[in-house]
Amino acid sequence: MTSTTAPVASRALLSARPLRCRNCGADRAAGPVSICEQCLGPLDPVYQPRRRLPNRTAIAARAPSLWRYKEWLPFDGDPVLSLDSGFTPLVETPVLARRLGVTRAWIKNDTVCHPSLSFKDRVVAAAINAAVAFRLDTIGCASTGNLANAVAAHAARAGLKAWIFIPDMLEAAKVIGASVYGPRLVRVRGTYDDVNRLCAQLADRFGWGIVNVNLRSYYGEGSKTVAYEIAEQLGWRLPTAVVAPMAGGSLLTKLHKGFGEFLDAGLVAGRAPRLYGAQASGCAPIVRLVERGGTRLEPEVPNTICRSLAIGNPADGPFAAHAMQQSGGWAAAVSDDALVQGIRFLAEDAGVFAETAGGVTVAAALALARAGRLRPEDEVVLCITGHGLKTVEAVSGALPEVPLIAPRLKEVAALVDGNDG
Ligand SMILES: Cc1ncc(COP(=O)(O)O)c(C=O)c1O
Ligand SMILES: [Zn+2]
Repeated sequence: MTSTTAPVASRALLSARPLRCRNCGADRAAGPVSICEQCLGPLDPVYQPRRRLPNRTAIAARAPSLWRYKEWLPFDGDPVLSLDSGFTPLVETPVLARRLGVTRAWIKNDTVCHPSLSFKDRVVAAAINAAVAFRLDTIGCASTGNLANAVAAHAARAGLKAWIFIPDMLEAAKVIGASVYGPRLVRVRGTYDDVNRLCAQLADRFGWGIVNVNLRSYYGEGSKTVAYEIAEQLGWRLPTAVVAPMAGGSLLTKLHKGFGEFLDAGLVAGRAPRLYGAQASGCAPIVRLVERGGTRLEPEVPNTICRSLAIGNPADGPFAAHAMQQSGGWAAAVSDDALVQGIRFLAEDAGVFAETAGGVTVAAALALARAGRLRPEDEVVLCITGHGLKTVEAVSGALPEVPLIAPRLKEVAALVDGNDG
């Protein structure tokens, strides 16, 4: 069996890459800090431009996890924790392709990302290795649910302490799916945006590594691996369009960066895919920014059953909007009814049970196809980012009643006859 951690002795050998401001270009030493001291812009890891990069064959020979792309992840040396995350299946779905009216369609199935069944395992895999490189003994997060599950799971098996903050109105499985790993889990009265503001104050006060606050520069890079995997799993080529859900806007932004890096490295050729972002209409500040144009995001107060995407003031919103615009894509917001329908289509068409963000993605893809933005010649990948068992509340009321019978043949016969009639 594969271990999820490297031996303790090798942990000392991992170091994190230095940082540079995306806005003003100021350099900063590696550390648990994500905001530029000069201009408050976001800091990004800096990679050595002349580092040795693997070719397709070398990558393909590596273990099936996101670390097979380690040269594009922000560390020197080998990762020591969360060695099993990523490299999820890319599943072709002809039925959904027909429903969308496109040539081919695939699901990037992060409902089975390890260990906590959402794409947040990717970003936490990156952040927890940064925490170890900085010798931090406690990690934490502000979360809409999936990140809480991931931080709790990754911290537990690494033997790190975890402080996890969530808004009070989360689905039962999201709360239990964090609590079971034994972190300090705290519900905060308010929205995610209130929780996030609180966490921004905590990181400095207690010296913790809050994965999406002061470790955000390292955390975000984990999302790029979705793009690398899509390229490799399509046989080292690119789809024409990718649809992805947006909350903070980090995944969408990093898909853009990831596809760009593989084109730059010559691992794939052609045009970068058009990127399409999906949100629920009850919380769609990034979609509205794309529709309005410009760079100024207007925060919203969320009101949707899609709690995983309920971020009213997304940190990477303007960057995500820019990525969609640059790639020639667009964005779409969908109603709660449409997202529930989207969850059912995905289950019935592709056999994949997704949480509410997956329903949003499928429903948005359908809306984009109806609007002529996804076209008949397109080859589309839908990023399905979290498992449906986490949000059963969303669909339970929409499914047919399950009959209850006595264990008798004639009762089954009655059901079969009823079905035929
Ligand atoms: C299932 C799921 N999909 C997508 C997202 C969006 O990620 P980002 O915040 O990077 O936009 C989230 C964020 O919480 C999520 O939980
Ligand atoms: Zn700066």
